Amino acid sequence: MSPEDSYLAEGIISDTEECNEIIGQFMDYLKPVNTQSFEPLSLNDIASDIVSSEGGYEIQIDFDPMARIKDIEGSPIAIKRAITNLVVNAVRYGNGWVKVTTGMTADNKLAWVTVEDNGPGIEPDQISRLFEPFTRGDTARGSEGTGLGLAIVKRIISQHHAR
Ligand SMILES: Nc1ncnc2c1ncn2[C@@H]1O[C@H](COP(=O)(O)OP(=O)(O)OP(=O)(O)O)[C@@H](O)[C@H]1O
Ligand SMILES: [Mg+2]
Repeated sequence: MSPEDSYLAEGIISDTEECNEIIGQFMDYLKPVNTQSFEPLSLNDIASDIVSSEGGYEIQIDFDPMARIKDIEGSPIAIKRAITNLVVNAVRYGNGWVKVTTGMTADNKLAWVTVEDNGPGIEPDQISRLFEPFTRGDTARGSEGTGLGLAIVKRIISQHHAR
């Protein structure tokens, strides 16, 4: 490849890295996460990364991080994947408005992150079904996707003993 085309190589490398990450996540979905690999993580840092990579031209994602939030323990790639899946859904199905917020419970023991949107939401009786692999809802009609996103979220969250 000529030096002028090196930007193409960069694109290929970053696409390949992304594929590796997705495959890794699917492997994580199939096998239990190794809790030995858990490390202290800032939900603010992870959410901030996601807000800047998923927001932008198409949609502005509001971000309201809590100052001095406590670290959580977890796998950085898995936690990033779980929150990203929720944000991608909110961008895709949320009618053009998305907000990510972090905080702590009143007893200061648990950190949380919420992803809000302005779409139709999910009917309560559909929630458990849509958390199963390869299931998609009415809101997804005509859009691309495999229906794995929420199943991966559920698996990652339960592997972290979170809710
Ligand atoms: N924020 C949301 N608002 C409304 N409906 C949603 C939202 N998030 C998910 N859904 C519904 O739940 C279904 C399952 O979501 P899930 O993320 O598992 O799969 P997907 O988005 O269709 O595909 P993938 O995430 O694999 O690309 C979606 O098809 C959609 O119908
Ligand atoms: Mg999805």
